[in-house]
Amino acid sequence: MKSGLNEMLVRAQGEHYAVAAFNILNHLTLSAVLEAAAQEKSPIIIQTSVTTVKALGPAAFAKMARTMIEAAPVPAVLHLDHCQDVDLCARCCDLGWDSIMFDSSHLPFEENIKTTQRVRRDARPKGVDVEGEVGIIAGTEDDISHAETSLAGYDETMRYIRETEVEAIAPAIGTAHGVYHGVPKINFELVGKLAAGTPCPVVVHGGTGLEDATFRRLIELGASKINISTALKQAYVDAMRQYLTENSGTVNPLKLDRFVMDRVVAMVVPFLRLFGSSGKAEHTGGKAV
Ligand code: 13P
Repeated sequence: MKSGLNEMLVRAQGEHYAVAAFNILNHLTLSAVLEAAAQEKSPIIIQTSVTTVKALGPAAFAKMARTMIEAAPVPAVLHLDHCQDVDLCARCCDLGWDSIMFDSSHLPFEENIKTTQRVRRDARPKGVDVEGEVGIIAGTEDDISHAETSLAGYDETMRYIRETEVEAIAPAIGTAHGVYHGVPKINFELVGKLAAGTPCPVVVHGGTGLEDATFRRLIELGASKINISTALKQAYVDAMRQYLTENSGTVNPLKLDRFVMDRVVAMVVPFLRLFGSSGKAEHTGGKAV
């Protein structure tokens, strides 16, 4: 069932859990993430990268995703991840996304504020929440790649939140997109200060590969949305490879899909339990489509 991003995250922070945001790739992975959330009675964020949106076609994908989300028995948010294109943000707002992350963090700070304000002005009357980024999160997500992190500062992040009025904030805290080579040095203090200093929910990017203790500490400090992308891609491709290797003599795409789906569900469930969101959604009797 439909939910707003801010509403979902404010509740999560208040009850000391975080909602997982998975970057899905297609119908199969969307179904798997919703199935895992339904099994766990957990709220969930269905995240789409810009490349995925373009590959699937924004209008067709929105119809499919909206139908599946409306039928899901748990609250689900359809969220656009890391979009640098103002026009595509507006289009997704019109087509039914519940929230968008506008990423102009690569621009000088004042410009980052101004462009985010523009996107939020368009999104607000459409009832769409906006997530913003301060500092630069390293690694590769979709077509956006940064070799180095540029850590966010407390004062600039607070000013950005005040002036843009975003509904969620992703400060660069030292986590990175993709696979970690070594242990990331995370600015936990900033997460705690922001969670205490502003009602704007704090988002953690680069969830794949973080240790359980790191997730727990981030959530204890007040982080309420945690993004996972690479782990889903790995589970998806590994499962396909395994099934095709073990069943090289058969041609049964639906069995292949079910095998892969089960593996994606099995990857999602532990995150929901670890983040404390399992059991936080009331079932209302919807059915998967
Ligand atoms: P990972 O690919 O490290 O899981 O990061 C996902 C993310 O932050 C998407 O915005």
